[in-house]
Amino acid sequence: MHRGRFIDRAIIVTGGGSGLGEDYSKAFADEGGKVVCADIDAAAATRTAAAITGMGGSAIAVSCDVTKPDQIQQMVEAVLQAFGRIDILVNNAGVIRRRSLVGTTEEDWDREINIDLKGPFLCSRAVVPHMMERHYGKIVNISSVAGIVGCISTAYAASKAGINGLTRQWALELAPHGIRVNSVAPGFTATPINAKLRATPVGKHIGESVPLGWGKPADVTAAVLFLSASESDFITGQTLAVDGGFTTTADLGPEYRTFDK
Ligand SMILES: NC(=O)c1ccc[n+]([C@@H]2O[C@H](COP(=O)([O-])OP(=O)(O)OC[C@H]3O[C@@H](n4cnc5c(N)ncnc54)[C@H](O)[C@@H]3O)[C@@H](O)[C@H]2O)c1
Repeated sequence: MHRGRFIDRAIIVTGGGSGLGEDYSKAFADEGGKVVCADIDAAAATRTAAAITGMGGSAIAVSCDVTKPDQIQQMVEAVLQAFGRIDILVNNAGVIRRRSLVGTTEEDWDREINIDLKGPFLCSRAVVPHMMERHYGKIVNISSVAGIVGCISTAYAASKAGINGLTRQWALELAPHGIRVNSVAPGFTATPINAKLRATPVGKHIGESVPLGWGKPADVTAAVLFLSASESDFITGQTLAVDGGFTTTADLGPEYRTFDK
């Protein structure tokens, strides 16, 4: 069914080539949006955009590294040329490298902070003036449960907690310009980023200890589209955990879980 919440809206999805970004891109297009799949992996972005146009939707692929201001500027120009406007930015591109505090090199730190935290800053800074011109915009930052509880690694925790802070700060600054800013913090969701982890006993244990198990991209997509649509216009500055209950519960083991004993 075509609900059309995004008819005439131009939407940039960074990291739109695979995983969650691919899923949001297709869902936005399915509801009438004009989608820009921006990814450092140009072939992946092209695949997503081609899948959308092949289904009769509207999409372009842009090769863009979110750590490079010149490439971001080129992306903004490409979007304006193709669609004449920018309504929604989903800051989704991200990487994870699991490292202990002591095992985190400066190179690990810089790479992750650059892509996962500085990338959303650079993309938002480039896009917001165009939203301000039309006094309308939605930014959805893709955070993580790792920005709420300790569960992944040093640089990832810092970048995702930083995203939640930026979300609150930008919500305050941009409200007078009609721009809403929110974050979605996915929990453990089955995508290529964690394909190796899911194949291990730890991956299985995660599925058993999160109350609703491993999530699927569609679970996160539903929240991203809600926070991008006009139905959420009175919500700004929030971080919505879409995590199957992970950040609100503690699994103390099978014996404790037998509540009625
Ligand atoms: N999958 C999960 O369980 C999960 C949980 C919490 C948060 N997240 C977050 O969701 C987002 C998407 O993750 P995913 O699981 O879909 O991962 P993914 O690896 O499937 O997709 C990430 C995409 O980002 C692109 N990318 C990487 N570096 C980039 C750069 N410098 N510039 C532009 N594009 C770049 C990749 O090419 C890829 O297409 C990330 O921000 C991640 O931290 C994922």
